Amino acid sequence: MEQKITTSYHRFEHWNELDVSDIELVDKAYLVSENAYAPYSKFHVGAAVRLDSGEVVTGSNQENVAYPSGLCAERVALFYVGANFPDQSVETICIVAKGDLLPKEKILSPCGACRQVMLETETRQRKAYRVILVSQNGVTIVFNSAEDLLPLAFGITE
Ligand code: THU
Repeated sequence: MEQKITTSYHRFEHWNELDVSDIELVDKAYLVSENAYAPYSKFHVGAAVRLDSGEVVTGSNQENVAYPSGLCAERVALFYVGANFPDQSVETICIVAKGDLLPKEKILSPCGACRQVMLETETRQRKAYRVILVSQNGVTIVFNSAEDLLPLAFGITE
């Protein structure tokens, strides 16, 4: 019997329709994308994570001449949370990409490896968190759970 998997998200025409605390995350994600070390891809990504304490942790992609040694922005930020705030929960993550390599109206969708880490962060803290993705011209999509981005994730299923 055929089964269907569905996922859902909220779409906004512009991030300025979000709550102030979410707008702050968008701003911080763009700001930290300026710190991306991306001489090889020239693709600049920023991630801003709000913890349940209200504290915001950020990360940008960091590349290396030995390509696989580099790390995506989301994982830089989430691993920093794990390393420094192991007892706090992630409440929201915002991920952005800045630059000419991405058309202004297109939204960066996180890579598979980052989704796996985003999901495990959620499993570990036993609480869903929101994922905000935005395009440079403002279009915004909001997922209520990291799980929505990785159905049938690695593990034992069915
Ligand atoms: N990158 C991220 O930082 N996050 C993603 O979700 C996808 C890709 C980075 C990795 C690499 O430095 C550059 O973007 C091009 O792949």
